[in-house]
Amino acid sequence: MPRPERKVIERIQKLKGQINYHNHLYYVLDNPEISDAEYDRLFDELLELEKRYPELITSDSPTQRVGATPLEEFKTVRHSLPMLSLNKATSEAEFLGFHRRVLELSEVSEKKIRYTVEPKFDGLAVELVYKKGVFSLGSTRGDGAVGEDVTLNLRTIRPIPLRLIGGPNPDLIEVRGEVIMNKEDFEILNKKREKMEEPLFANPRNAAAGSVRQLDPQVTSTRPLNMFAYGIGRVEGRKLTNHWDCILYLKRIGFKISQYVELCESVEQVKAYYERLLEVRNDLPYEIDGVVIKVDEFTLQEKLGELSRSPRWAVAWKFPAQQESSRIRDIIVSVGRTGALTPVAMLEPVRVGGVEVSRASLHNEDEVRKKDVRIGDTVVIQRAGDVIPEVVKVVKSRRTGREKRFSMPERCPVCGSKAERPWGEAIHRCTGIACPAQIKENLAHFVSKGAMDMDGLGYKFLEQMVDKKIIQDQADLYFLKKEDVMNMDRMGDKLAKNLLNAIQKSRSPSLTNLIYALGIRNVGYHLAGVLAKQFKSIDNLAKQTTEDLTQVHEIGPIVSESIYNFFHNPKNLKVLEKLRRGGVRFPVEKVEAREAPLSGKTFVLTGGLDSFTRDEARKIIEDMGGRLSSSVSKKTDFIIVGKDPGSKYDSALKLGIKALNENEFKKLIGR
Ligand code: IVH
Repeated sequence: MPRPERKVIERIQKLKGQINYHNHLYYVLDNPEISDAEYDRLFDELLELEKRYPELITSDSPTQRVGATPLEEFKTVRHSLPMLSLNKATSEAEFLGFHRRVLELSEVSEKKIRYTVEPKFDGLAVELVYKKGVFSLGSTRGDGAVGEDVTLNLRTIRPIPLRLIGGPNPDLIEVRGEVIMNKEDFEILNKKREKMEEPLFANPRNAAAGSVRQLDPQVTSTRPLNMFAYGIGRVEGRKLTNHWDCILYLKRIGFKISQYVELCESVEQVKAYYERLLEVRNDLPYEIDGVVIKVDEFTLQEKLGELSRSPRWAVAWKFPAQQESSRIRDIIVSVGRTGALTPVAMLEPVRVGGVEVSRASLHNEDEVRKKDVRIGDTVVIQRAGDVIPEVVKVVKSRRTGREKRFSMPERCPVCGSKAERPWGEAIHRCTGIACPAQIKENLAHFVSKGAMDMDGLGYKFLEQMVDKKIIQDQADLYFLKKEDVMNMDRMGDKLAKNLLNAIQKSRSPSLTNLIYALGIRNVGYHLAGVLAKQFKSIDNLAKQTTEDLTQVHEIGPIVSESIYNFFHNPKNLKVLEKLRRGGVRFPVEKVEAREAPLSGKTFVLTGGLDSFTRDEARKIIEDMGGRLSSSVSKKTDFIIVGKDPGSKYDSALKLGIKALNENEFKKLIGR
């Protein structure tokens, strides 16, 4: 191999600088100086030189955005400073409440408070670490403390600089921002997916998040992603004193900053900004769902501090849901994984907040009645954040008299079994125990992310497996042989191997994922985590009575009953048993005695505390392993007695429960 001459090294340096510069103009500033052809020439020359001298390839070279091979799984990354979330305000009054608290707690005069105001982007929060100016680690927000290492995927996003510009670089900087997908790009992507019979993304946010959380960076690189920076985590070798300077600095070192970031000197200016942004919201190329208002001065931010997981110095003032009107062509009934029959309005396609909507949920029979929705009606529909669009109301003035009433079918539209509406419930359910729709939905849930996470097992595949009667329940997946998989349409040797690998890998789930995967009615991912933390194993969870379950904070009578029923249904027990036989490991979590000082202790709070709200106190107790219950019983260990205690105090006294005043409680929790 020829030794590179000095001239070559210099040329490569120069090309990299030029390409990075033009990249920045094109992808970040939207203001290219040269034609695409000229850009390609520079790029090709660099590629050619790097081919001849591969030892000169560096990770920040613009040729190195894509290229990695797929990962088996993401590593986790602990954020050096937690990535906080935001408290919400949904009205002007709530925003003013936030402002009042800022004034009170910071003890400065109204005139001294400045706010930086920004759009609230609707995407996926990420953190990018730059060491000596070079992008070295990128992660998702995750639960705020720990996220996933998605460096290779983030490298493929053009507005993310691989090397910072604007010279001298800090030794280390953690840049935070949101990966989003523009509305237009989202629609093009979904059209393509529709053609390929791939499942559609519900909204641009899901498309962005799904694309970043891809194990194969090649796939991410084909997705049109964008990123806005809005904050800095740790920084070494540079002093910043307020958020506005931070934004200007991010812009100078090469990040894309929203043109709508502003500095406000008064609440009136903030209100005016909110109104202005609400006006232009639909004209923006990307989705925003509100305004983020941040106290500008860092010293003030520090003084205000944070509460559990959100800072007291910032608030997200959300926009109202997006509404539009359209006509109902038909009402169909879809069957969910628990057999729930949901009426769905099929609409004349309409753009709501820049995204096309053609179906909207009508929830259940009572809703249809209450709103008097008929086929042919013109209706107002709305999209709010993540949720499926829904019908808000009928525009009665547009009725022609030809509209048709809708009633729920007596039989399941998929399997023909009788549909029943259990006494006291609003939902009709299919009674068929082998309803293919339920089986398919259950399976799709079982294999999904957050559940058993079997990458690559798409809906079409599961559907075929059920239709060909190869699988009848979740556990059957663990008994599949290569021949079974090879029998499916469009199956090749490599794909079959990958699918079986994904199944194999899923045999050691976390307890939370396993509980979530079981698809217990009313138990979403969050509650699955709560149950895992509390009960430590499936066997222990299965033993609990409904009374035991309702002792857990966040679990009310309805959820406790679904959990109880789930573990007392012979069909489910059979599936659990089959899962074990199929080699699925049922994890048993350790009881953390040392790290959780209040582990196993139950508290009851009566009266008001000066230093904490009820929710704050609960959070602190739970973080330390204890539980805050709403009523006193023999199981209560402590009663915290605040101002004006209620009758709970008397009950506790009668039972001889140890009482703590606010100071004693604070001592106990080490504050
Ligand atoms: S600042 C304390 N700024 O909102 C700082 N977040 O609810 C927290 N988000 O996870 C983040 N636009 O995904 C900030 N201009 C903006 C934002 C923004 C969107 C998201 C972000 C975060 C969530 C917090």
